[in-house]
Amino acid sequence: MNDTFLKACRGEKTDYVPVWMMRQAGRYLPEYQKVRGNISFLSLCKTPELCVEVTLQPVTRLHMDAAILFSDILIPMEAMGAGLEFHEGRGPVFHDTIRDQAGLDRLIIPDPEATMGFVMETIRLLRRELQVPLIGFAGAPFTCATYLIEGGSSKTFWETKKMMFTQPELFHGLMEKITACTLAYLQAQAKAGAQVLQIFDSWVGILAPCDFEEFALPYVQTIIGGLQDTTLPIIYFANNGATLLDLSIRSGADVLGLDWRINIRDAIRRVGNKALQGNLDPFALMLPRDALRQRIKRMLDAATDAHGYIFNLGHGIHQFTPPDQAKCAVDAVHELSGR
Ligand code: CP3
Repeated sequence: MNDTFLKACRGEKTDYVPVWMMRQAGRYLPEYQKVRGNISFLSLCKTPELCVEVTLQPVTRLHMDAAILFSDILIPMEAMGAGLEFHEGRGPVFHDTIRDQAGLDRLIIPDPEATMGFVMETIRLLRRELQVPLIGFAGAPFTCATYLIEGGSSKTFWETKKMMFTQPELFHGLMEKITACTLAYLQAQAKAGAQVLQIFDSWVGILAPCDFEEFALPYVQTIIGGLQDTTLPIIYFANNGATLLDLSIRSGADVLGLDWRINIRDAIRRVGNKALQGNLDPFALMLPRDALRQRIKRMLDAATDAHGYIFNLGHGIHQFTPPDQAKCAVDAVHELSGR
């Protein structure tokens, strides 16, 4: 068992810098497209044998130091009773948006094993196959709430902020319900065998620091606090969160994820003894090979003072990235950091 990634999460010394990539299983891999050719995305998420197969694909092809469970952050929102569909080219869609008390009352706090047993089954199957640690995950409450309130992806998050500012009690009520669901869901993943848990806060970067502190951070703290007895390392990734980094330290996470909009040296100075994960611009994978290696070398040099460092992209890998470019980056991290 290769435990380099686990050690880095705990801030322990490692022989080399471990690497994985957010959204490493997905459409940029032809072997993923092949599996997806016969089945819808949601059906794929609910078929453990196929989830195992696509989880393993990037680990095998690219030699990643960690695997991430194949699922989606919106699966538990569906289990809460929000009807979810994925449309080609448009992403996730919730038809019944949550914008009033009646909508909120209709949401349930589901039993994770009873409603999302396929996720826990995927984890149990993966643990038998894997030689690297398995990351379980969930969306952070704020990011999940934006999907329920907007009804899908958004550019302005008008409805979300409108609810925050005009119906704060309703907004907090929704956040509480999502938090209860998410905590139980992550506890179930831990029990099934997940070895690290990552919380994805993809949209929280739209908030002013004062609103992050009031409307989003307390719920992340509740989840991470509730996971303490699992003793698993927790990663909190606040996308577009450079301006929220000082507050994010208070999340209680062991590792903070960084996007690419911050210099990693600045981040190290600001976070003290937390481990860091990131922060290559995903589009930098398109650099010519030599330039890509040079950029990775600079990042590795800059990160030597971190209290634990995991190489990753600053956000998910883009669907048109050539897999060989991703492989070149993984190899460069391994070679240049002394593996
Ligand atoms: O290796 C992995 O990371 C795969 C597991 C995974 C998926 N989604 C599979 C997926 C993870 C960890 C996620 C997280 C996720 N899902 C996030 C947080 C990370 C981020 O990117 O900010 C968010 C915001 C979502 C919601 C979501 N799921 C959107 C907006 C979309 C549509 C846009 C897109 O990228 O396609 C999805 C669909 C989705 N989730 C796909 C995959 C592989 C593509 C589905 C397909 O095959 O068509």
